[in-house]
Amino acid sequence: DEPLRDLADAKGKVIGTAVTGSKLTGTYGEIAAREFNALTPGNAMKWASVEPARGSFDWAEADRIVDFAEANGQQVRGHTLVWHSQNPDWLTNGTWTAAELRRLMTDHIATEVGRYRGRLATWDVVNEPFNEDGTYRQTLWYNGLGADYIAEALTAARAADPSAKLYINDYNVEGVNAKSTALYNLVRDLKARGVPIDGVGLQTHLILGQVPSTLQQNIQRFADLGVDVAITELDIRIDLPADSAELAQQAAEYRQVVNACVAVDRCAGVTVWGFTDSDSWIPDTFPGQGAATPYDENYAPKPAYHAIAEAL
Ligand code: XIL
Repeated sequence: DEPLRDLADAKGKVIGTAVTGSKLTGTYGEIAAREFNALTPGNAMKWASVEPARGSFDWAEADRIVDFAEANGQQVRGHTLVWHSQNPDWLTNGTWTAAELRRLMTDHIATEVGRYRGRLATWDVVNEPFNEDGTYRQTLWYNGLGADYIAEALTAARAADPSAKLYINDYNVEGVNAKSTALYNLVRDLKARGVPIDGVGLQTHLILGQVPSTLQQNIQRFADLGVDVAITELDIRIDLPADSAELAQQAAEYRQVVNACVAVDRCAGVTVWGFTDSDSWIPDTFPGQGAATPYDENYAPKPAYHAIAEAL
């Protein structure tokens, strides 16, 4: 069978996977290199990973992923710069004035984006800024700097690497709903103000049976604003144990998601959040659920893998 990445290349689309840098050897590394034309570090570029103590940096795993991607002709999606989660304790527990917080944020962006300047295709600059009702999430950043932290972060990222596509990424924004509409309005306003914004990332952490019926329509409305769209963290979780009927339904739903992206020119592509069930965050985060990725724990392709191939 033709690798997914060849099928995606022929359509000008991304087919990516989140990866764990330390696992990029053996079968895991072979599949990551053979099947995917893009990689996203699952954790390695988060603030707590790269600067666990203030001023003390650890780029080892992030570098490893970027080097692996370059050796295999793959794009890298940087993930993620400004978020409320997986920040180092020194940052979370500190007491900062607005000026200090702004400086911390823009220095972090300059350091990390600057380190990989010219080598990363895209950055998830701001992650998960919204609540479900479309109000802003009350984070360290929002509470300290107001909603304009988003524009400031994007501007700092553009300055640090003018060639990277800059995204805002969130979950539960796949269908047309209050949260995705808030994101839509934000992107429209940023564009109107001339703030650098190139795309929106739809994480797409789905539950079996819950592909939003408005997925393609929602992708299209963002595209019509003049930004790219990417499915950035696709997985479809199932109550364990998953039976063969559920795996077949999951395959149909993977196909639906890939089809929706392929149907819209400005949809850059689809990234799965781990390609194997042995490297998925789902069982840890949603106890009793899993089997969410296209390969099983032993690296055997599941029906979802074949559905992705057929949709590409
Ligand atoms: C997850 C990782 O996969 C886990 O290993 C980690 O323990 C928690 O974070 N949305 C995101 C990702 O943007 O960064 C998250 O990744 C999954 C949800």
